[in-house]
Amino acid sequence: MSQRSGFGMRPAPNGAPEEEAPSSGAPPLPPDASVDLAKERADSQVDGVLDALDAELVGLAPVKTRIREIAALLLIDRVRARFGIDSARPNLHMSFTGSPGTGKTTVALRLAELLHRLGYVRKGHLVSVTRDDLVGQYVGHTAPKTKEVLKRAMGGVLFIDEAYYLYRAENERDYGQEAIEILLQVMENQRDDLVVVLAGYKDRMDSFFASNPGMSSRIAHHIDFPDYDTAELEAIGHLMLAREGYRLAPETEQIFRDYLERRQAQPRFANARSVRNAIERARLRHANRLLAGSATVDRAALTTLLPDDFLASRVFGVRP
Ligand SMILES: Nc1ncnc2c1ncn2[C@@H]1O[C@H](COP(=O)(O)OP(=O)(O)OP(=O)(O)O)[C@@H](O)[C@H]1O
Ligand SMILES: [Mg+2]
Repeated sequence: MSQRSGFGMRPAPNGAPEEEAPSSGAPPLPPDASVDLAKERADSQVDGVLDALDAELVGLAPVKTRIREIAALLLIDRVRARFGIDSARPNLHMSFTGSPGTGKTTVALRLAELLHRLGYVRKGHLVSVTRDDLVGQYVGHTAPKTKEVLKRAMGGVLFIDEAYYLYRAENERDYGQEAIEILLQVMENQRDDLVVVLAGYKDRMDSFFASNPGMSSRIAHHIDFPDYDTAELEAIGHLMLAREGYRLAPETEQIFRDYLERRQAQPRFANARSVRNAIERARLRHANRLLAGSATVDRAALTTLLPDDFLASRVFGVRP
C-alpha cells in the first residue's frame, strides 16, 4: 500500500499544485488501509515546534499538555481525512489568561507555527493587537479598522491582548461593541483560516465572558497561565542567562534568589518579564564594572555576573 501521497503534495486534477488542504482531490484510502502514524507525525514536523516549546519555556506543564493535545487532534484529523472520514474542523479559538510575563505571547507564537505545520492555517503568523488597533475614535472608523486587522491576520493567529477593553459595560454605545460583533462573525464563519486568541487577566476575562456570552461560546479552549514560583523564576533566569552567554558566579546564586523573592513581593511584578529586565540591568552594571576596573578582561570576566551586579538594584533598598 503506497503511503507516499503525502499531505497537500499531490497535484490537483487540473495539474495545479494543491494548497494546504490535505488529501482533498486525492481519492480516499480504502477502508482496509493503514497509515503509519509515526511517519505522519515526522512529516508534519510538529515535534520540532513542541520540542521548542518545551525547551524555551520553564514549567507551564498544563499549557504544554493542552498544546500537545491540540496537535494530536489535528494530526489525527488529517489522517481521518485521508480515509475520507468527514468531520467539522475543530474550533480552535482560545483564551489565554494570566498575569503579565507568564508566557502568553510566546505560546501564541508557537501555536501559530504549529497550526501552520498541521495545515490548519495557511501562513502561521501572529498578529498581536489591543483595543486601539481595532476600535476607532469616531463613528464609522471601527469597522474598517477591525476588518483591516482581520485581513492582516487571515491565515494565522490574531492575538488580542487585554481583550476585555473591547467591552465597556458603562457605555453601551461604545465603539468596542462594533468590533466585537465583527469579530464574532469572523470567528464563526472564517474559522478555517484564522484562530483568535483573547488574552488578559483571568478575573477581567471572566467578567468579559459573562457579559459577552456570544464570545464565550466561540472559545473552545480556556488556557490559564499561572504565576511562576521563585524556583521557576530562577530556572527561567538561568535559561535566559545561558542563552545570552552569561553565568552567575557561585556566590551570586543566592543573591539572585533573594532578588527574585523581593521583586515578587513588589508592585508591578511581571513574572518572567521582570526576570528578563533584572538580567538586562545586571548586564549594564557588569559592563560598567568591567570598564571601570582593570585594563584587561578574560572570557570568565566577560561572562560572569557578580553579586554586586544585582545588589546595586533598588530591590535591595539603599545600601549603607
Ligand atoms: N516559562 C518561561 N520560561 C522561560 N521564559 C519565559 C517563560 N515565560 C515567559 N518567558 C519569557 O518572558 C518574556 C515575557 O513573556 P511573554 O511576552 O510571552 O509573556 P506574556 O504573558 O505575553 O506577557 P504580557 O502579558 O506582559 O504581554 C519573554 O521574553 C519570554 O520568552
Ligand atoms: Mg504578551
